[in-house]
Amino acid sequence: MCNDGLITTATNLKRNSRYLHVITWGCQMNVYDSNRMMDLLRPLGYHVTEDAGIADILILNTCHIRDKATEKVFSELGRLKQIKDARAQEGQSTLIAVAGCVAQAEGEEVLRRAPFVDIVLGPQTYHRLPEMIAKMHRKNGQLIDTDFPVESKFDYLPAPEQTNGYTAFLTIQEGCDKFCSFCVVPYTRGAEESRPVNSIIAEAKQLCELGIKEITLLGQNVNAYHGEGPDGKSWNLAQLAEKLSTIPGLIRIRYTTSHPRDMNDSLIAAHRDLPTLMPFLHLPVQSGSDRVLQAMNRGHTADDYRHLIDKLRKARPDIALSSDFIVGHPGETAEDFKETMRLVNDITFAQAYSFKYSPRSGTVAAVSVRQVAESEKDARLQELQAVLKLQQETFNRQTLGREIPVLFTHKGRKSGQIAGRSPYLQAIHIDGPDNLIGFEASIKVNELLTHSLSGTLIKEQRTS
Ligand code: SAH
Ligand code: SF4
Ligand code: F3S
Repeated sequence: MCNDGLITTATNLKRNSRYLHVITWGCQMNVYDSNRMMDLLRPLGYHVTEDAGIADILILNTCHIRDKATEKVFSELGRLKQIKDARAQEGQSTLIAVAGCVAQAEGEEVLRRAPFVDIVLGPQTYHRLPEMIAKMHRKNGQLIDTDFPVESKFDYLPAPEQTNGYTAFLTIQEGCDKFCSFCVVPYTRGAEESRPVNSIIAEAKQLCELGIKEITLLGQNVNAYHGEGPDGKSWNLAQLAEKLSTIPGLIRIRYTTSHPRDMNDSLIAAHRDLPTLMPFLHLPVQSGSDRVLQAMNRGHTADDYRHLIDKLRKARPDIALSSDFIVGHPGETAEDFKETMRLVNDITFAQAYSFKYSPRSGTVAAVSVRQVAESEKDARLQELQAVLKLQQETFNRQTLGREIPVLFTHKGRKSGQIAGRSPYLQAIHIDGPDNLIGFEASIKVNELLTHSLSGTLIKEQRTS
């Protein structure tokens, strides 16, 4: 799941303070990393601001997953350079840092083409950011740190001190050893590594003490989680989720992104048995053609996926399913694409993301001579997205008239409205009192809008 938009975070502005502005692109793991970089710099006196123009440090946290990632970075850096130059004219210095997956993959190139960039740091080394900033203040020049260090950054990150509300991300697993033919992640994020259970529990407790009610556990292969448990044995995701469920105040747990190969029976059973585990699963399948799945090195067939979904639906009949699809992977024929459409029609998704295959240098698929024509990719994407959109509407329509618990997290767009998410991750708003924000309450869904649902409160009583 990717967010190519711009996410910024602000706290209160204070005069004569030092300011930090972070721009985040990419997946939820980048959002988590950006928050952790803010946590690292707050103790050094940096206040987070939404206004790039007043920032002493500008961090661009980048994504490398699809086309033009690098060009997009250079174009944004051009904008940041203007800010740096304008501030320099007023005698103020500005430090520009490029972080994330483009930094990891093309750090040297970034420094070469953008000499005004001060620091380049990869996803596994940002715990060294304070040290790098101190070094930069002592000497001029450029610093790059895109190691895959032996130490884990998690051992060096401070406990979170601030949150943006009632929901939070928590990275429990990083990296990937699966090497799908099309994907840069194993190269940018490094080898798969799970955090120990105790360190995750400590972070989750801290988040809940700050008022968090819903945690989304993150990992590139989150369901491959196998961290060291308090008993010294390896724990899986189901065990971890069960333990997290005992934390006071934590009423909702989600996890993303999962791989079909790691969807084991204990996790499926947890969807049946754990009320805190939300009935929503993002399980990317990429293609419905066995030939393409094999070329992609996904390690499962389309029927394996169908059987998994059958088991999940037996365990939790109302589970909402989400997925990722790639159309036009090298070698994908019209027949293969039909198989994808057949799978989509067999499963029916509550929502899904779909992309045109984008060649990424360094990956196996990029050098295939069987690249699919752009016009063909466009046509396939359009056909797929039309069906996925209908399926999403159908799913949402099924919730009309139903009573659903909503975790209210913020005010709605119109005055008097409050908004939040259903267990199925649908955006819902109602006319209701502000004092329900931060709580779960039951509503009746009565209207289907383009990107959300609306309803009415049926119980004044909070359920959390
Ligand atoms: N770990 C997750 C996916 C991470 S990347 C998984 O295994 O499913 C998020 C999504 O981006 C992928 O699921 C895939 O659909 C898409 N993606 C990755 N590389 C891509 C590429 N080269 N071209 C197009 N889409 C890509
Ligand atoms: Fe990329 Fe495949 Fe790893 Fe997912 S499982 S991160 S798609 S290589
Ligand atoms: Fe992008 Fe890196 Fe996430 S490439 S999708 S930011 S792991």
